Amino acid sequence: LSINQQNAAGQLTIGGVAASQLAEEFQTPLVAYDVTKIRDQIRRFKSVFEDNGVSYAVSYASKAFAAIAMYQVVDQEGGHIDVVSAGELYTAMQAGFPMANVSFHGNNKSREELELAVAQHVGVIVLDNFHEIELLDAVLAEANTAVRVMLRITPGISAHTHEYDQTGQEDSKFGFDLNSGQAARALQTVLKNPRMNMIGIHAHIGSQIFELNGFQMAAEKLVQVASDWRDQYGYQPSVINVGGGFGIRYTQADDPIAPEAFVDAIIKTIKQSASDHGLDLPAIWIEPGRSIVGPAGYNLYTIGSRKDVPGLTSYLTVDGGMGDNIRPALYQAGYEAVLADNPMGEPVETVHVAGKYCESGDILIDQQPLPESQPGDVLVMLDTGAYGYSMASNYNRNPRPAVVFVEKGQAQLVIKRETLADLTRLDQPYRPSTD
Ligand code: LLP
Repeated sequence: LSINQQNAAGQLTIGGVAASQLAEEFQTPLVAYDVTKIRDQIRRFKSVFEDNGVSYAVSYASKAFAAIAMYQVVDQEGGHIDVVSAGELYTAMQAGFPMANVSFHGNNKSREELELAVAQHVGVIVLDNFHEIELLDAVLAEANTAVRVMLRITPGISAHTHEYDQTGQEDSKFGFDLNSGQAARALQTVLKNPRMNMIGIHAHIGSQIFELNGFQMAAEKLVQVASDWRDQYGYQPSVINVGGGFGIRYTQADDPIAPEAFVDAIIKTIKQSASDHGLDLPAIWIEPGRSIVGPAGYNLYTIGSRKDVPGLTSYLTVDGGMGDNIRPALYQAGYEAVLADNPMGEPVETVHVAGKYCESGDILIDQQPLPESQPGDVLVMLDTGAYGYSMASNYNRNPRPAVVFVEKGQAQLVIKRETLADLTRLDQPYRPSTD
């Protein structure tokens, strides 16, 4: 949990700036990222690979938080990205992100999306299903060009996480099934296609995973597949992509190993397994999203009303909620919060931190111990950087918050706060039909 940075006045700081000062300057609700933390996590991932002496790519899963500024930081750190829509791809284009370092994912890429990806010469398209192979073939034929591809397979491993966050189990909607021979059929189809340059295999078993075991099983499975394909089809993948999913600590109750420790174990498993199968060591790619941006992000709110139900409970309401962070309502996700100007204060009460949205389920934190607070105080929710802003909505026609990047004591607005005018920008008046 990211409460250990304080200034001499005992205020919580983010990137060297007091959180309450950020709130004053940029208003609330506000999303703030400590950019140094983002950079450090990418660097830690890279050094695990370098220490193990393997070729690699650290490909940031940008669904966790996509913005021009974010893509720029990833590029500055030598990271790759994965995108899952024309929108993410377009944002990366606007950021000037090198298209050769982009992987394009998704289980229902449209023809338009594939056309954009092909026209932009993205580094690799991760093929998910047979319909897509045909669609891509048509797009490539029309553009008279070729592209690098990978096959996403379903490794048949179910990770222990929220069911919405599981993706690797056999009945998943993603990827080619292994056991029924779908994956092998996809491989043969792609190998025959001169416009598709097959570079490797991909599997992603889920998100917010704490156990090493699932990753090790997936890694072994991928090497097994690579070795089978070499033996049966004479094709050897040059890349094994193990996806993302490394769990982070949201509350004191969580106790995951460090993200780079997951990766270290995966690399060692792949090395061992490749050597057991007499397979040349492929490059290893990872796709972390949450672990890169989650701990670097903070949601800042202003405390407003409170409701005490005598003898029962208290609700402390803030000026944001499920529109800027749907995760508590959608996944029962736990978070912790502190007062910006008294982050380490002795708690005097335990409250429900409630959002302002018109739903009983809009509770950001179920049980939060807090020191005494007043309306107007700034409350900071910790570790909100992944799947917070990126899943934000305009529910109740609330504008989405601003996002700031803070580094070395300087804050920069990277996404403007939506205005009321933004909310009706796409609306058209209705003229009743006259028949
Ligand atoms: N690669 C692929 C193919 C993925 O589908 C995902 C996440 C990742 C990488 C990155 O996983 P991460 O390292 O961030 O766990 N909205 C949910 C999470 C959905 C994850 C979807 N795929 C949440 O808020 O928990």
